Amino acid sequence: MQTHASAEGEQLRPLRVGIAGLGTVGAALVRILTQDGDAIARKLGRRIVVSAISARSRSRDRGVDISQFRWFDDPVALARSEDIDLYVELIGGEDGPALASVTAALENGCPVVTANKALLARHGVTLAKAAEATSAQLGFEAAVAGGIPVIKTLREGLGSASITRVFGILNGTCNYILTRMGEEDIGFDACLKDAQALGYAEVDPTFDVEGFDTAHKLAILTSLCFETEIAADQVFVEGITRITQADIKVAADLGYKIKLLGMARKVENGIEQRVHPTLVKKSSAIAGVDGVLNAVSLETNHVQELLLAGPGAGGEATAASVLSDIFDIARGTQVPPLGVPSSHLVPCTRAPMRAHEGGYYIRLNARDVPGALAAIATRMGESNISLESVIQRPDLRANESGPEAENSRTVVLITHETIESAVREALGRIAKDGFIVGEPQLIRIEEF
Ligand code: HSE
Repeated sequence: MQTHASAEGEQLRPLRVGIAGLGTVGAALVRILTQDGDAIARKLGRRIVVSAISARSRSRDRGVDISQFRWFDDPVALARSEDIDLYVELIGGEDGPALASVTAALENGCPVVTANKALLARHGVTLAKAAEATSAQLGFEAAVAGGIPVIKTLREGLGSASITRVFGILNGTCNYILTRMGEEDIGFDACLKDAQALGYAEVDPTFDVEGFDTAHKLAILTSLCFETEIAADQVFVEGITRITQADIKVAADLGYKIKLLGMARKVENGIEQRVHPTLVKKSSAIAGVDGVLNAVSLETNHVQELLLAGPGAGGEATAASVLSDIFDIARGTQVPPLGVPSSHLVPCTRAPMRAHEGGYYIRLNARDVPGALAAIATRMGESNISLESVIQRPDLRANESGPEAENSRTVVLITHETIESAVREALGRIAKDGFIVGEPQLIRIEEF
């Protein structure tokens, strides 16, 4: 196999790319490489040619002509082929052909570019070790925040800085849904359907809306930020499926927007990695990141806060990140996949969520009987929770149905900073008192 050797005489030799997976991103990549071939060659000083491809269906119409490329039924055979200098994995999935082919390429010393966050979240450290063992580069810019160059920023731009906190909007589908639910009178399911039609959502959209896609991306960022092993199973995850238009409306009236955030920081007893809907002040920079846009905020010892924002999903934007990795490999850039040699990574210990401190938005369906509100406030006080505001919203209907719900009123409590375990304890007692109907809604507030 010819490697991407950077010796002077070889610079003009085309870089031969093998692409496995021709979904939204793969098809966009083939289109860009085909249409912009001359411009890429001028910029890079070297041509990039698609030399072979592999996908599930050879005949599906993807809007690009693939007849000129050598076809492989088996992506592992493509990854091992002597006729490619770089293997691009866009199959998806944390195991199966994606894992087998990426492993095969790296073991063979062939550089790999992948957009597969699930694969990296689960096997990233093993793959980084495999890459280091054969000095093959492993690029995954497209795996986190679509078109935003956050991996390069962490691996190279901020290489010497010490990161204190990372947070961001890491899922375009969820941000698109929450934005549209806030701006138009459209329900969750219709917004999700549109996100799917626009090519933002995962094959199984529960990965998006249940927060797992954000958790995968956060786990990768955490490793790069804090030099820890990737630990996606240590992320606290809550998705957006329980967020209602009532929540979005009340939050807006109180000066907040609801965003699905991924956040990680070092705390006393480990690394707090959490993904959940969050109330953020409308005036904060992150609140202005709407629609399919993603944003990542990096707080460092030297640069205070760096906010990167841009398209977080979609074929073109994600393919652009794949291409930027291809450029780096074509130029011979050498960086450890996870920013530091994988032998330097330390285990990532989970900090318990019950110790989380912050403000809370609590929406309850309180039974419309004398003393209900007073009892709720008393229980809060008993758990040492100070209330910033209590709002009754007779205009908002309870979600639950039945005569009990008919007789209930929507009440929203905003707490001052408190500990999560105290909020859970108070809500448990309130439920036992019998003054509320259905499950309370609990959304954490972050003051950025
Ligand atoms: N489904 C993902 C999203 C695609 O909506 O952000 C990009 O990873």
